[in-house]
Amino acid sequence: MNPLKHMAIIMDGNGRWGLKHKNSRNSGHKEGLKTVEMVIKFCIKKHIKFLTLYAFSTENWKRPIKERNYLFNLLELFLKEKLEKLNNEKIKIKILGEKNFSKKLNNLLDFAEIKTRKNTKLQINLALNYGSKKEIAYAFKKLNKKKKISENDISNSLFTKNIPDPEILIRTGNTQRLSNFLLWQIAYTEIFFEKKLWPDFKIEDLNRIVKKFSNIKRNFGKI
Ligand code: FPP
Repeated sequence: MNPLKHMAIIMDGNGRWGLKHKNSRNSGHKEGLKTVEMVIKFCIKKHIKFLTLYAFSTENWKRPIKERNYLFNLLELFLKEKLEKLNNEKIKIKILGEKNFSKKLNNLLDFAEIKTRKNTKLQINLALNYGSKKEIAYAFKKLNKKKKISENDISNSLFTKNIPDPEILIRTGNTQRLSNFLLWQIAYTEIFFEKKLWPDFKIEDLNRIVKKFSNIKRNFGKI
C-alpha cells in the first residue's frame, strides 16, 4: 500500500454547476462548499495529514468583482461559522499565497492560522491568491544571495515549506490542466482528472481514487 499523507485538489466546475442547476455561477460556489466539508471528513477518517485546496488563484482576480466578492464572503462565512469546530477537531489552517484581501478577511485568515497553529490531526492548506509561478519566483528572490541552490533550498523557500509533496492531485470539472497549481511540488504526484463538476464529486469518487492510488506501482525513476 502506498502511504498517503497529502491530497491536493483543484476544485473545478462550480460555475458550470451553478449555471446548470440554478442559473447562477455563485450558487455553484455555495454548493461546492458542501463537497469541501465532505473531503475534510474523509481526510480525517483516512488519517490523511494534509489537504490542499485551490480556492482562489492569482489568475482568478480576472473574474468579475461580483463573483470575487461572493467567493471572499463565502470564505469569511465558512471560517466564522466553522473555525471553532475545526479547532476542536484539531485541524490546522494554513494559507498558501499572499494575503492581499480586505483588511477584515486578511485579519480573519491570520486569526485562523494563529488559533489553529498547534493542531496536528489534519492540516488544511487553503491556496488563496496562489500562483505557483509567483511562489517559485519569490523563492528565487529569497535565495538570490546563495551561490549554490539545492532542491531542498527551493522547497524550503516555498509557501509549502515543511509540507510533504502531495501523493495525489485531483482535478474535477473535466479539464486536464494544472492551472498554475503546485508545479514544483507535484513532480512525482499521481494525477486524477475527474469528469464530475466539483459539487457533484462524492465520497465514492474519493474512495475509488484512493483505492486506485493504493494499487499504483510508484517507481520514482527506479524499475
Ligand atoms: C473553480 O470553479 C472554483 C473556484 C475558483 C472556487 C472554489 C471555491 C469553493 C469550492 C468554495 C469556497 C472554498 C473554501 C475552501 C471555503 P469554476 O468557478 O472555475 O468553475 P467553472 O470551470 O465551471 O467556471
